[in-house]
Amino acid sequence: MERKGIFITFEGCEGVGKSTHAKRLAALLSERGAIFTREPGGTPVAEKIREILISDSLDVSAETEAELFAVQRREHADNLIIPALNAGKTVICDRYIDSSIAYQGFARGIGVERVLLLNDYVVRNCMPDVTLFFDMLPAESFRRKKGSVIEHDRFESEKEDFHMACYRGFCEAARLFPERIVRIIPDADKDVTFERVLVALKQRGLI
Ligand code: TMP
Repeated sequence: MERKGIFITFEGCEGVGKSTHAKRLAALLSERGAIFTREPGGTPVAEKIREILISDSLDVSAETEAELFAVQRREHADNLIIPALNAGKTVICDRYIDSSIAYQGFARGIGVERVLLLNDYVVRNCMPDVTLFFDMLPAESFRRKKGSVIEHDRFESEKEDFHMACYRGFCEAARLFPERIVRIIPDADKDVTFERVLVALKQRGLI
């Protein structure tokens, strides 16, 4: 079936504000049927897989982790994203394939090739029209978050060099997919950042 909707993903390291802006965009575009979703998760089954993936009391190997992310993505794409796009909706997703490139490919070290291979089927049938990469170094986002409540799932409790490897992974994804990935530099003022999001989407004729 021909895809009629628009697929927008938000990416970046922990605490860069992408989830807030993704939700704000979905609210702004709600009249044209925009939906907000997230990864890992988005459907009841994928949310169950999320629980396994982020639990800091479960030990998962790097390869299993990468495969579980690919499985939850397949479930999410088949049962939520693709049907919504076919129905002409705008799908706004907090994290997607580029998080697997950054976290599993780079930070866990399984390699970008392996990640792309594991995700081949899903990505071939369901690639974002545009990806907004919130480009902020982990040290900066941790500094900005200081004083606020910090959650500790299996990824958030990793050390700074892990998060720095994720950052390098996002930069590599931006290099590999320059047509799709747009860098958004987050400002301390959320309205300024959101304006940058809107400008990027308007420039591509997506809103
Ligand atoms: P969240 O905190 O942004 O909801 O995401 C949960 C964690 O999952 C986050 O630390 C990033 C990680 N993640 C991956 O490692 N690979 C992926 O493919 C995705 C989608 C998320």
